Amino acid sequence: MYFDADKNDHGLPYNPIKALTVPRPIGWISTISKDGIGNLAPYSYFNGLSYNPPFVMFSGGSREDGSKKDSVLNAEETGEFVFNIATWDNKDKMNDTSWIDDPNIDEMIETGLTPAPSVKVKPRRVAESPAHFECVYHQTVVLPGHAPESVHHVVFGRVVAVHIDDDYITADGLVDTLKMKVIARLGYKDYTTVESKFSMNKRTVEDNYLPSQAAE
Ligand SMILES: Cc1cc2nc3c(=O)[nH]c(=O)nc-3n(C[C@H](O)[C@H](O)[C@H](O)COP(=O)(O)O)c2cc1C
Repeated sequence: MYFDADKNDHGLPYNPIKALTVPRPIGWISTISKDGIGNLAPYSYFNGLSYNPPFVMFSGGSREDGSKKDSVLNAEETGEFVFNIATWDNKDKMNDTSWIDDPNIDEMIETGLTPAPSVKVKPRRVAESPAHFECVYHQTVVLPGHAPESVHHVVFGRVVAVHIDDDYITADGLVDTLKMKVIARLGYKDYTTVESKFSMNKRTVEDNYLPSQAAE
């Protein structure tokens, strides 16, 4: 099938776009408002962008009145946020934190999660997550929308500190992602868990792997 993404003339019951950009890691973002109130919400338009120094991003749609979501606003106003990794064990609470949009309620407390202090930033970490990135706000890029609620604010942050639960570091010094049972977003109401992996060696020119090289 083919459809025009400006017209969304796909004829399907749901827009298939989200089901095709998968799996999306879930940025479970904790922030603190300028009034000092904690906030926690999941963002699957989230990703790592660079390595050294590491940058991450999350992208917030808008409320129906066109206003920014709390995580975006807090990150912009206070200059900090934390990425908490979402796993099978904390999936239900992760989901619960998405439904509370009252800025006066701290979702971490309300859902019974345990706040853990961060080292370099003020927003607290979710103790039930096995890994966290403490981030400093870098900039926001606004993506235009067809309607006020579809304008997206893409928040970029620089990772300034990293926490990893030692239980998930192998004897070889590798992070055991499978043991963490990291979850990720698919389309519709679907999620996936990272439960299988395969490895491939890096190719180099010396490998002579291109057909043109083999002919020489
Ligand atoms: C798994 C999951 C992923 C989500 N991803 C996004 C996203 O990428 N962008 C977005 O605007 N909302 C996303 N949402 C919805 C927000 O979590 C929800 O609007 C939340 O209330 C925002 O909270 P905040 O205003 O405290 O930041 C997602 C919800 C779930 C359950």
